[in-house]
Amino acid sequence: MKARVLSGMRPTGALHLGHYHGALKNWVRLQAEYDCFYFVADWHALTTHYEQREVMERYVYDMVIDWIAAGVDPEQSTIFIQSRLPEHAELFTLLAMGTPLGWLERVPTYKDQIEKLKDRDLATYGFLGYPLLQAADILMYKASFVPVGEDQSSHVELTREVARRFNSLYGRASDSETLIAAALAKLAKDDARYFEKQRKAFGETGSLEALAKGEGMVRKAAANVAGFTTDDAELLLGHLKGSGKSILTEPKALHTEVLRLPGVDGAKMSKSYGNAVLMRDEPAEVTKKVRGMVTDPARARRTDPGDPAKCPVWQFHKLYSDEATQDWVVKGCTSAGIGCLDCKQPVIDAIIQEQTPWRDRAENYLANPKQVHWIVEMGTERARTVARQTMKDVREAMGLAY
Ligand code: TRP
Ligand code: SF4
Repeated sequence: MKARVLSGMRPTGALHLGHYHGALKNWVRLQAEYDCFYFVADWHALTTHYEQREVMERYVYDMVIDWIAAGVDPEQSTIFIQSRLPEHAELFTLLAMGTPLGWLERVPTYKDQIEKLKDRDLATYGFLGYPLLQAADILMYKASFVPVGEDQSSHVELTREVARRFNSLYGRASDSETLIAAALAKLAKDDARYFEKQRKAFGETGSLEALAKGEGMVRKAAANVAGFTTDDAELLLGHLKGSGKSILTEPKALHTEVLRLPGVDGAKMSKSYGNAVLMRDEPAEVTKKVRGMVTDPARARRTDPGDPAKCPVWQFHKLYSDEATQDWVVKGCTSAGIGCLDCKQPVIDAIIQEQTPWRDRAENYLANPKQVHWIVEMGTERARTVARQTMKDVREAMGLAY
């Protein structure tokens, strides 16, 4: 069985290159190795944009189209919408009961965002609670790994604390620990040691090789060791994945190289700054935006030499261009041998080429909105199966199973 990955994105409408290179590309890469759940965090969007009802519906499906266009494969990955699963709200409520206020007040993004988004009234209960809602999203699916940007590490850390607290309050750690020890005692000493080594390696690094080795060991024992039952095997397989003795699984953040793609004005690419190149911009639009992009301010005239390190266009070359092109840029820029428009052309070409398959796939879905709805419908039902089971376990653990 593959380990589970879960991530969510707020519905902000059509996505831009920053979303692709910062997150989506990684989502696509992960889906072959992991059981990936990707969802539209529409309630999260409401924690800051509760007055703007237009974030919904159109934005939601526009974003899903970009996910699929980028290569998220609905056959491999489970795509769903948060608000379609009221279980998230139920888990959030139940977790809220035992979560100290201080844990939420101390989340660094809390004060930061309140500072940054001064124009909105964020002194709300929903905004304070939003990292806990995120914890519920993650814990619902017993995700082992959560691909997020560095800015969200504190939310994953909070999730781990919440899971730990839940398990210690309501888990049945003690009996399953005894059972695990008993199962391990049935193995040869070396085998038990080998198993522990793989379990640790998987827990610490997420190494799938370690997971496979540990599983292989357990299967071998189930087949060969007298008295080693299928229950023992189940227990150890759960233990190996870190899910056996606990009701909720402590996730780990998966940070990918942080790529801060600048927008056309040199600031971080962001829809709200109006400086973004969209995944679905037409070639003419891409050309116009990149040609208008700011460059090293020292190159006011064509004859002034520049410094790529001070130029946002260079960030694009680092991402899109091969070494030869990069050399050409450095030499041409510092010697004023090339003009900025010459320099931008390979970037324009590379973006347009990268976008071609996205545009083709997106066109197909834009023409068949029913197909997108259907994909989300299927994903939502798949997610619901898992969410129902988790809530059943959680209610039971909390003594709510009347
Ligand atoms: N909070 C994330 C953001 O603002 C989105 C999100 C919501 C999320 N729930 C999540 C990401 C669960 C990872 C896992 O970008
Ligand atoms: Fe930037 Fe290229 Fe112009 Fe140099 S030549 S300032 S790297 S756009």
